Amino acid sequence: MSQSAAAVQVSGLRIVKARKDILQEVDFSIPAGRITGLLGPSGSGKTTLMRTIVGVQRITSGSVTVLGKPAGDPALRHELGYVTQSPSVYPDLSVETNVRYFGAMHGKHRRDAAAAMAAVGLEGHARIRTADLSGGELSRVSLACALVARPKLLILDEPTVGLDPVLRADLWERFGAMAAAGTTLLISSHVMEEASHCASLLLLRQGRLLASLTPAELSDRGGSEDLELAFLNIIRQAEADEGTPPSPGTTPGLGTAPHLGADNLPAAGMTVTE
Ligand SMILES: Nc1ncnc2c1ncn2[C@@H]1O[C@H](COP(=O)(O)OP(=O)(O)OP(=O)(O)O)[C@@H](O)[C@H]1O
Ligand SMILES: [Mg+2]
Repeated sequence: MSQSAAAVQVSGLRIVKARKDILQEVDFSIPAGRITGLLGPSGSGKTTLMRTIVGVQRITSGSVTVLGKPAGDPALRHELGYVTQSPSVYPDLSVETNVRYFGAMHGKHRRDAAAAMAAVGLEGHARIRTADLSGGELSRVSLACALVARPKLLILDEPTVGLDPVLRADLWERFGAMAAAGTTLLISSHVMEEASHCASLLLLRQGRLLASLTPAELSDRGGSEDLELAFLNIIRQAEADEGTPPSPGTTPGLGTAPHLGADNLPAAGMTVTE
């Protein structure tokens, strides 16, 4: 696949859960070999959209094509890495055993696990029980478990929440290196300053795609160099157009507590849900 080809193509996507429209009229494509940021207030549908691309969310209507195949196609199992919003690793196992376990599911070996741990700066923590790690280290174990398969498409649901600024900068550098090596990354975030690391951005609001644009275009359209302010301006404009009062949930930059649910199960144990 060339750098300019789309890794993911979403057309007319609609997801209904419990008779509620969660996503509607969503159309976009994700360029291969780049970082795409998925931004939106809490509850706007980021996790649902990511689960749809991963193939664990039932589609009500529309189409989702991932690396040339329909989302959920078994052939995509080894091509796609998914890091859920809450770390999903086995707490009683060591870092290395966790990473090797996930690697084994993709036919990978000890050296691949070592490379994945090194890629997230955890080589010195291989023997430590995962339950004894700090929060930031735990997030990186989850990431290593996804990296070990060397996926072509890596989907990361708020991977930098709760990380300190140094670790966050370090991770974005690693994501940039992965994209430069040809990996496609889709990363959701509440932290607007992180949008500047992305080649393109998808802005979600209340289950609809508000815009698909570059950080420079976000800045232009939102009338501010400050991407957080630009995003807020675009959201407020959309609210003004609809005549709806601003809601507290439309404040970007606010982290949310990770929720427990089917999306937090280890990838291997995932099932498609309504
Ligand atoms: N099974 C379900 N039944 C009904 N509503 C649901 C169900 N699952 C999710 N939702 C609703 O869908 C909406 C989108 O949820 P989603 O988890 O995708 O949002 P999000 O953008 O990832 O939010 P956050 O930033 O808080 O993680 C929310 O309003 C949520 O309450
Ligand atoms: Mg979410």
